[in-house]
Amino acid sequence: MEPMQPILETRGLCKRFGFVEAVKNVDWQIYPGQVTALLGDNGAGKSTLIKLISGAYQADAGEIWVRGQQARIKGPVDAFNLGIAPVYQNLELVENRNVMLNMFLGNELTHGPLGIFLDKKRMADQSSQVLQDIHSRIPDVRVPVAKLSGGQRQVVAVGRALVRGGDIIILDEPTAALGVEQTREVLRLIETLRANGKTVILISHNLSQVLEVADWISVMFHGEMVGTRAKDQVSRADVVSMIMGTKADDLAMA
Ligand SMILES: Nc1ncnc2c1ncn2[C@@H]1O[C@H](COP(=O)(O)OP(=O)(O)OP(=O)(O)O)[C@@H](O)[C@H]1O
Ligand SMILES: [Mg+2]
Repeated sequence: MEPMQPILETRGLCKRFGFVEAVKNVDWQIYPGQVTALLGDNGAGKSTLIKLISGAYQADAGEIWVRGQQARIKGPVDAFNLGIAPVYQNLELVENRNVMLNMFLGNELTHGPLGIFLDKKRMADQSSQVLQDIHSRIPDVRVPVAKLSGGQRQVVAVGRALVRGGDIIILDEPTAALGVEQTREVLRLIETLRANGKTVILISHNLSQVLEVADWISVMFHGEMVGTRAKDQVSRADVVSMIMGTKADDLAMA
């Protein structure tokens, strides 16, 4: 069998803030159509790494490759154009606007000669279709986001990423603020995204959730990538010691 080609790869990626080396020489491969979890203690560099990939930050050194080509990601728009769609923890939703307008926020469809009228019909159709594709239980795209649960808000934020054509969906701590039932909803959403052929990067502190949904587990420690393991080839104890800073290679030797 041919070795799988990564859809996204970083080579020697570095980012420092003053004296803090937040991301240190990170080589990382992300495989298409799979869920890769990114774990690591507070301050390990996880959010910084995905912000580099998503164009929110510029790397000090290193390369990002997407679908086999070196990418020039100078800002979020470049990342979006490559299908890279981050969903940050604050979700960036507008409370008093409805689901459909939030999904098209900053990207509204218009009609009329000058394009000054919102094309609500087309936005409603497209957003409903996207929500249907991810088996969302949000009944009506005209409900204001203020009325939704935390899990449903996560769905809307992911829906926005999909509406924009995202196919590498990055979720930073999507279940951190959620209860049990809503967490289940988000885990189901991740599985649905994978079933629909999307590539998912999931940042999480919750090892049980990660072991439930991820195909690959990557661990960072103090800005470095400790290693990436196939989920079914790693034990919970292995992952814990990687999070504590034990090199994956040492584990393999042990
Ligand atoms: N904008 C910034 N300015 C200065 N320092 C920063 C900035 N962003 C991150 N850092 C520092 O970089 C390091 C990595 O932070 P980062 O947020 O990437 O960690 P993380 O793994 O996402 O942590 P957490 O699990 O707490 O979200 C930390 O030492 C943090 O204080
Ligand atoms: Mg973070």
